[in-house]
Amino acid sequence: MEFPANLKHERLRAWVEAMTKLCKPDQVYWCDGSEAENQRMCDLLVQAGTFIKLNEAKRPNSYLARSDPSDVARVEDRTFICTTNKQDAGPTNNWMDPKEMHAILDRLFDGCMRGRTMYVIPFSMGPLGSNISYIGVQVTDSPYVVVNMRIMTRMGSRVLDVLGEDGEFVPCIHSVGVPLAPGQQDVPWPCNKEQKWIVHFPEERAIWSFGSGYGGNALLGKKCLALRIASAIARDEGWLAEHMLILGVESPRGDKTYVAAAFPSACGKTNFAMLIPPPAFEGWKVTTVGDDIAWIKPGPDGELYAINPEAGYFGVAPGTSYKSNPNAMETIRANTIFTNVALTPDGDVWWEGMTDTPPAEAIDWQGQHWTPDSGRKAAHPNARFTAPASQCPSIDPDWENPRGVPIKAFIFGGRRSTTVPLVYQAFNWVYGVYLAATMGSETTAAAAGSLGVVRRDPFAMLPFLGYHMGDYFNHWLQFGRSIPNPPRIFSVNWFRKDSNGHFIWPGFGENMRVLKWIVERANGHAVGVESPLGWMPRYEDLEWRGLEDFTPEQFYEVMSLDRDAWNAEILSHEELFLKLYDRLPKELNMIRQLMLSSLWRSPEHWEIAHDGISYAERHG
Ligand code: OXD
Ligand code: MN
Repeated sequence: MEFPANLKHERLRAWVEAMTKLCKPDQVYWCDGSEAENQRMCDLLVQAGTFIKLNEAKRPNSYLARSDPSDVARVEDRTFICTTNKQDAGPTNNWMDPKEMHAILDRLFDGCMRGRTMYVIPFSMGPLGSNISYIGVQVTDSPYVVVNMRIMTRMGSRVLDVLGEDGEFVPCIHSVGVPLAPGQQDVPWPCNKEQKWIVHFPEERAIWSFGSGYGGNALLGKKCLALRIASAIARDEGWLAEHMLILGVESPRGDKTYVAAAFPSACGKTNFAMLIPPPAFEGWKVTTVGDDIAWIKPGPDGELYAINPEAGYFGVAPGTSYKSNPNAMETIRANTIFTNVALTPDGDVWWEGMTDTPPAEAIDWQGQHWTPDSGRKAAHPNARFTAPASQCPSIDPDWENPRGVPIKAFIFGGRRSTTVPLVYQAFNWVYGVYLAATMGSETTAAAAGSLGVVRRDPFAMLPFLGYHMGDYFNHWLQFGRSIPNPPRIFSVNWFRKDSNGHFIWPGFGENMRVLKWIVERANGHAVGVESPLGWMPRYEDLEWRGLEDFTPEQFYEVMSLDRDAWNAEILSHEELFLKLYDRLPKELNMIRQLMLSSLWRSPEHWEIAHDGISYAERHG
C-alpha cells in the first residue's frame, strides 16, 4: 500500500492496514482533498451512473444522485450505542455488548470491499487546528461518500499535518456492504438490502457503519461523530455537543448577539439559521454560523463559545424555495450535490414546494417519467442538497473563527399545533433544562408512527445522544452551575394552529420579531411578564411594523396558555421521567411539581396569561 508522504502517524497507518486486511478491497486510496481529485471522483460517479451531471449553465458543477429506494433516510432502529454497561447507553438507545457487536461486525466487514476501492478520508470536524475541533478518519468503499465528505467537512491531506505523529482521531469505518465478484457489474447505488448497522463505541471512540450509503448513515462525521460520539466526549470533558443551529443577530447599532437553537428534524432549522428579517427591520441582520450541530465550550472568560463542526449543509430539499429560504436557494446555485430530487427536462432540479407551479414534466427521484397529475411525489420527502457553507449569502464572518462565537441564549422549539405558546423564557437555568428535557414535537408524515402524536424529543437529541439521557440532563444542570453567567433559555413554537386547523403565526422571516425579543431579553433589555411557565412578552413588547394586520387578539391566541392543556402536558412528562427514573436528576421532578402547583396556585398570573386581552390592558 502506498501512504501519503505527510503521514507521520503510526497508529493511523496501522489502523488503515488492519482495515484493509479485514475488508479486502482491491485497492486503497488516500484522499488529498484537492480540486483535481474531486473532479476525478465526480467523473467516476458519472461513469458509474451514480451521478447525473446537471446543466452547466443552470447549475454549474452540480450533480444529481438517485439512491436505491430502500436507502433513503437514517435508520434509527438499526443504530446502536455499545457501552460495556447497558445502563450507560440508557433506555432511549439500542444497545449491544461491545464484544458481541465486534464479533458481528468482524464477520460482516470480512471481505466486504472485495472488487472495490477503499478510500481513506482524513477529516476535521471544526476549523483545522481549533482547540474545539476534533479529527476523524473514515475509510469507505463509496465514492459518493467521499465527494459529500469533501463538502461537509474539512477533508484531505491538511488534516494529516494537524494530526502529526500522535494526535487523537476517531476511526470511522464504513461500507455499503456489497462486495463485487470478479467481473460483476456494479449498480449505481450499492447498498445492503438485508443488513444495516450504524454502530458507535463511545468508550473506544469508534464508529462502524454497514449497509447504507445515505446521509447520516454514511457521512460519519455528522450525526455519528459530531453528535453521538462527541456528546460522550463532551460529558467526560465538560462541554456540550448539541443538535443546534447557531446564528448571529446584528442590531442597527452594530452589536452582535449569537444564539444556539435546537429543533427536532423537520422543523425548519435551516430556514431559521438563514432567516432574512422583514423589510421593517432595517439595519438588522441575521448571520449563519451553522444549521445543524453546535460544539460549545466555556472560554477562559467564563462565556460559552460555539463552533459549527461542519463545513457544509446537508439540507432537506422539499419545501425549500425563494419564499421559505432565499439564502439556501442562493447557496445551492452551484457546486452542489442533490440526492433524490427530480430532474427537469432542461437538466436542472425540482422538488415539491420549490416553485408554486410544478414543471409540466420531470424525471422523478426513482428515475420514472413524472407529471404533476401522476399522483406521486417528484422528489423523495427526505431528498437532500449537499452544499458548501461558504456559499451561503448570510454566512457569518466568524463562522470559521477557531475560538468560536459567544452564545447568549439557547432556544428550544418543536412542532406543536396546540398548548405551547409562541415564545417564553424559562425562569432560570434549571427551568430551562426542564423545558428542553420535556420538549416534544408532533410526528410528521416522514416519521414513523401516527400523524400528529407528540413524541418527546429531549433537547432534539433523542436519536443523537451517545449515552444515558438522564446523565445528559444531569450534565446540563452541572454545566450551568459551573459557568458564572449561563445563557438564557427560551422555548418557541412556530407551528401553533387555531381551531380551524390554520397556522396562527406566519413564521419564516416574521420569526425575526420573536428573535429580536429573545436577543434583547438575553441582553437584559426587553420587558417580559411572569406566567406559570416563565417570562412572556406582551403584544407591545414585540416589533409589529410591517405586520400590522396581525392583531393583538391573534397574538394572545398564539401566546395563550390553557390551564387544562398544560395540566395534561405536565402530567404527560411523567412518562419520559419514569423511563429515565434510575438516573433522572431530582431537580427535574421538583420543577415538575412546582410548575403543576403554580398552574393552580397563582390565579392572578394565570388569568393574566390566559386571558391575553385583559392582560394586555392591565399591563399596557
Ligand atoms: C438531519 C436530521 O438530517 O436531523 O439533520 O435528521
Ligand atoms: Mn439534524
